[in-house]
Amino acid sequence: MSALSGKRFLVTGSASGIGLSVAEKLLAAGAEVVSLDRNEPSAAVTQHVKVDLASRESIDAALEQVDGTFDALLSVAGVPGTAPAATVFAVNALAVRHLAEAFLERLNPGGSVVVVSSTAGFGFPQRLEAIREVLATDTFEEGVQWFADHPQEGNAYNWSKEVATVYTHSMGLAFGDMGFRINGVLPGPVQTPILEDFRETMGEDTIDGLEELLGRHATPEDIADVVLFLASEEARWINGECITVDGGTGGAVVSGSVPVPEF
Ligand SMILES: NC(=O)c1ccc[n+]([C@@H]2O[C@H](COP(=O)([O-])OP(=O)(O)OC[C@H]3O[C@@H](n4cnc5c(N)ncnc54)[C@H](O)[C@@H]3O)[C@@H](O)[C@H]2O)c1
Repeated sequence: MSALSGKRFLVTGSASGIGLSVAEKLLAAGAEVVSLDRNEPSAAVTQHVKVDLASRESIDAALEQVDGTFDALLSVAGVPGTAPAATVFAVNALAVRHLAEAFLERLNPGGSVVVVSSTAGFGFPQRLEAIREVLATDTFEEGVQWFADHPQEGNAYNWSKEVATVYTHSMGLAFGDMGFRINGVLPGPVQTPILEDFRETMGEDTIDGLEELLGRHATPEDIADVVLFLASEEARWINGECITVDGGTGGAVVSGSVPVPEF
């Protein structure tokens, strides 16, 4: 992978799980890491700014505390479906969009955004019309209002990740036009603190069944390596794409080899 030394990254969700692994790998490679999280990371980041990603005001206030330009925004933070639906949608989708767009003026030429979405968003083709409608809103607040006016069926987590995935796919050309890239990573189950909540909302049978099938869950490092790849020069022609990182189950589902899991 091309040299990360001296490069600057803003990482959300850096206090735990995948985001912490991303931050640790970047720091070990000599990069600067500015952390945005509601909690303080254990890693010796260059700067940590406390933020509540469910609040547009908090995101803007956090960005004001951060100076300079960056080589990438790595949007990793997320909340599980055990949180209130409005919070889940705000953090997992609206904050992702708001940060990506607020970041356009801070990206160095050739810079990129990487969004950690989820295989839980695989169902987006069935809700594409509604997703495109909410993404047609112009602001964070309008997005919040749209969701209040159009409650969605099922788990808010799946919906939030469907929106994050479609947002990422839909912005590739616009980012490319400005000399940037935006891509996503879609993990299956990863051994992090959030997984216990997924066992509650998605069903123990689904989560444990996947572990049994694959022999293990992903580690945060399995996912972090792909996040860093997408932000690197080696991924220069990948844009508006989402890479599934789930040990093989997604391929089996899309090819019809195994049924779609019931989340
Ligand atoms: N673990 C999995 O099985 C799995 C699977 C697919 C996708 N993901 C996604 O990966 C990403 C990282 O999750 P993880 O597994 O590392 O979980 P995690 O719980 O270990 O980390 C999530 C991080 O996000 C931060 N965060 C949450 N809400 C916030 C808020 N309102 N403001 C600021 N920070 C906030 C938390 O403080 C934490 O540091 C999430 O987007 C998650 O949806 C996880």
